[in-house]
Amino acid sequence: MDESFGLDRAAALALDAQDELAGFREAFVVAEPGLIYLLANSLGRLPKAAAARMAAVVEQEWGVRLIRGWNEGWMALPQRVGDKVGQLVGARPGEVLLADSTSVNLYKLALAALRARPGRGKILTDDLNFPSDLYILQGVAEAAGQGQRLQVVPSPDGIHGPVAGLLAAMDEDTALVALSLTLFKSGYTYDMAAVTAAAHAAGALVLWDLSHAVGALPIDLHAAGADLAVGCTYKYLCGGPGAPAFLYVRQELQEQLHNPVPGWMGQRKPFDLALQYADAPGLARFLSGTPAILSLAAVEPGVDLLLAAGMARVRAKSARQTAYLLALWRAFLQPLGFTLKSPLAAEQRGSHVTFGHPEGLRISQALKEEMRVIPDFRRPDNLRYAVAPLYNSYSELYEAVQRLAQVVTGRVYARYADDGLAVT
Ligand SMILES: Cc1ncc(COP(=O)(O)O)c(C=O)c1O
Repeated sequence: MDESFGLDRAAALALDAQDELAGFREAFVVAEPGLIYLLANSLGRLPKAAAARMAAVVEQEWGVRLIRGWNEGWMALPQRVGDKVGQLVGARPGEVLLADSTSVNLYKLALAALRARPGRGKILTDDLNFPSDLYILQGVAEAAGQGQRLQVVPSPDGIHGPVAGLLAAMDEDTALVALSLTLFKSGYTYDMAAVTAAAHAAGALVLWDLSHAVGALPIDLHAAGADLAVGCTYKYLCGGPGAPAFLYVRQELQEQLHNPVPGWMGQRKPFDLALQYADAPGLARFLSGTPAILSLAAVEPGVDLLLAAGMARVRAKSARQTAYLLALWRAFLQPLGFTLKSPLAAEQRGSHVTFGHPEGLRISQALKEEMRVIPDFRRPDNLRYAVAPLYNSYSELYEAVQRLAQVVTGRVYARYADDGLAVT
């Protein structure tokens, strides 16, 4: 049953007082205490330990140790930090590594999967997937070169994933089902085990994009029988702008799949500099070029914080905070014309809630410029409030909703133009 919430400032403070994760906020740099930052699903806050680690890596490892750093821990970093991310997503050691961007990892794994399913012509996805994923999957279908095609199954309502449509489309021609576990606009979250089982029943492989789910909810790739996964580290993992992404390949599949971007770091013996490529054993073959050591080092502290908090507790707080946002929406925002563009069902929600408003872009500009609230906006009318349970409080959510209401009742947004900002 839905929890009922008190809807005044005192009730928000009472929720904060009961919050067993509240102390984790101290672990983050909060340079502007009055600024309400609700952008965990785009760029997470800076962990204090990441700043310290960066300084150490730059000054000591790079500055002092120079090239010797490669043999003193740098070479192992993609796997070592990968194994920690693996603990967040239910992977075994040796099944996750950090490399490249999510887009590039998606390309590598999707094309490898397609080549491992010869004779099958179809990749399946949905129309709420992140557009970059669609572009990559189109590119993969073309690169596979055997007439493969991408089938994009439409959502029934622009909020929920088209589960029935996907199940109906899975057939003996389906090579790969590639979906985001949590959708970037609505936050709808698939039942990973159910979709994976259906894809396997059709003989297809499954690739999950975990970008909006990792660090926000417990994920158990093994229990779900998932084959492949990719995901960002700069959102809920707080790895920093453009931080390297991760990729997961189930152990049993690793020897069957081949990196379509075979570079020297995925070669069996990179420093032999042989003229012929040969796959490294296991997951290392999915490295291509030189790992980005500085950025990789910055990823670890945020992952450590989530491991210390425990994903069950993180999810419990996230679910309660998004339920609280729904209660605030009903009381204060719905009467002002905001629609709800996220699922009502708690188990289908990720860690962000999306409000629809025709003036969403100008409203989000006013929030940022005058109200000290940073949300984000996704066209055409989606204003997203993402909660990071490690540093967002209930009071912040309360204030952020009050300020959102003020922007509309006071017509503050009318001072802004829909000028096609580069980054929204
Ligand atoms: C679901 C999802 N997939 C992929 C990407 C692309 O990631 P990258 O730009 O790091 O390749 C994003 C970026 O926000 C995303 O949200």
